[in-house]
Amino acid sequence: MLASYLCENGCTPKRGERRHNDPDEKKREYFEKYDLGKIREIKESEIPYWYPKDRMMHAPEEQECWGVKWRAGTSNFRTVDELFTKRNLWALAAYLETTNKTELFQDFLLFVFTSILFKSSRMMAHNKDGIGRIQKGTYYIPQISHDIHVGKFMQEALGDMLSGYSQITLKKSNLLISSSDSRVLRIPTSSVDYIFTDPPYADTVQYGELNFVWETWLDLDTNWHDDEIIVNAFRDKTEKDWETMMMQAMTECYRVLKPGRCVSLCYHDTSEGTWALVQDIMAQAGFIVEKTDQAVYINSATKTTNQYFSDKVTKRDLVINFRKPKPGEAAAAILLTGDEDKTTFGEKARRIVRDYLGAHPGSTKDRIYDEVVSRMVRKGQMEAHNFDELLRSAAEEVKTPVMKTLFEPEEPNLFGTHEISRWYLKETELVLHDDAENAREEVAAEKIGAFLKDFLGKNPGDEGVHYSNLFEFYIYAVTDKPRRQLTDLLPDYFYTTEKGTWRLPASEEEERAKRDARARGLGRRVKRYLAQLAQGAFIPEQERPSDATLAEWIRHCKRAGLYEQGKLLFEKGGLNPDALSEETMVDVEEDYQVCARMLAREASEPKRRGRRTEE
Ligand SMILES: C[S@@+](CC[C@H](N)C(=O)[O-])C[C@H]1O[C@@H](n2cnc3c(N)ncnc32)[C@H](O)[C@@H]1O
Repeated sequence: MLASYLCENGCTPKRGERRHNDPDEKKREYFEKYDLGKIREIKESEIPYWYPKDRMMHAPEEQECWGVKWRAGTSNFRTVDELFTKRNLWALAAYLETTNKTELFQDFLLFVFTSILFKSSRMMAHNKDGIGRIQKGTYYIPQISHDIHVGKFMQEALGDMLSGYSQITLKKSNLLISSSDSRVLRIPTSSVDYIFTDPPYADTVQYGELNFVWETWLDLDTNWHDDEIIVNAFRDKTEKDWETMMMQAMTECYRVLKPGRCVSLCYHDTSEGTWALVQDIMAQAGFIVEKTDQAVYINSATKTTNQYFSDKVTKRDLVINFRKPKPGEAAAAILLTGDEDKTTFGEKARRIVRDYLGAHPGSTKDRIYDEVVSRMVRKGQMEAHNFDELLRSAAEEVKTPVMKTLFEPEEPNLFGTHEISRWYLKETELVLHDDAENAREEVAAEKIGAFLKDFLGKNPGDEGVHYSNLFEFYIYAVTDKPRRQLTDLLPDYFYTTEKGTWRLPASEEEERAKRDARARGLGRRVKRYLAQLAQGAFIPEQERPSDATLAEWIRHCKRAGLYEQGKLLFEKGGLNPDALSEETMVDVEEDYQVCARMLAREASEPKRRGRRTEE
């Protein structure tokens, strides 16, 4: 143990150090008498001020782990006060009590308090250079802590704050800051001119857990965690919950915005999954992408090590603008207004069913119905139409077993609860017979192709373009968007590289292969077949793909970066290699190996999702 002291009443030396094992006998004696003596005195006394003793995250007493940020050994403190040495706890509590009695600048002083709170904790690691540092985004308590001088740090923080404050020119204005659940805003409908939002992305930063210590010290409400939009396994908050809650928050933004006005959404992610999801959420909430010539970025001042060395992670924060359409302004998606005559309505609704089942084969009727209804501006119109008839015109019903466990179906019973009806597109619906939509897809693919060419021309070292760059381009430059998701569209036109990036067809033959696959609706076909297999649907013999077809599908999947699908087709698709020629058999084996290898590589790479934290 090392004590570093400063003599404040004129004694010499003014500044010094002494250790528990100091070679200087006198220093050792003083260390024992004064330094340890002081700590003993503190230990034996009771802190005469209030400080928080809350159980972390209000977890039950008998349960050691309190959240996903809990770690055995390094982050296993039980209560908030256990995160601090008694000495600093005392100093912080004394400061807080004085501040709470101060009327003038109380918020300002509390802000200063929060700025040094974690540095005053046992999380402050002692480094060889004598400087204390803490790891952000965790509750990591190092083996050797640096117990700071709370008063001195407070003084420094006050100085910094004052110099910052003197630079703020806006001292008074009609501002209202409110912190509440963004899913239920107490703001009138269509009354807001502009929204800027920086929502939490999935599980990257555990704001709720990491704020808890601050909130208890400030005596704020610490029971808001049910409302937190986050993925947190400890609190059973799944990705699905995140999606639902984000959807609620964005729907609320939509409600309060004036028609024609924008919401700017901050995005810190390169993850394909979330990009597509966010786009979906915004579209479902009713927003349309605002056309701008240029994307707006917020450059973060500091970069993570990853950001310096990898081209795959975010280098900047992207700001995407979405607009609440004005009445009568059609969104890119099919919009049912309820004013259509029966034929037009039927056509539009059938297209929705088709799109939805193309993307989600094997959905149940209620999900398909929800999809159609949710796209109607005026709900309740469905009753006037025969949904069953509509559904049957595009899809067929297949009874699939309800599984008791992963491998075991439910016993048949009289109520029929051992079976569930799923819907798959009819064979005839797998190829797109919609000229306008086909043309839209062609134009989009052409623009993306030109972008790929241009990008690769400017970056000759790159084999392909990362999905996030394509997506960025797509949302801004492809104005008349096809109804399919970009993730579904890309494999129909382009190829993936070994790195998982996208490239143009490299030869006339490759180009033809894609055209052919499109004409036969290969992407939808494979998706439908795999869903049927996974859901245990009965597939009539004439609809089963032949071995040669399966081999062709596996090749398609490999080339389109659909490795999971390729692997599944080979392993579970019912392929009988003996029925193939030797050459095809070798090819299909090789395609399968590529899929499996790419999947293994993806799995071993860290999950690229959400914002990365520093340090
Ligand atoms: C990405 S952070 C925003 C960071 C902020 N822009 C900044 O630079 O400091 C997302 C924030 O959303 C908050 N949040 C989570 N669920 C919420 C909800 N239901 N309503 C409002 N905010 C929520 C999180 O606690 C977190 O503070």
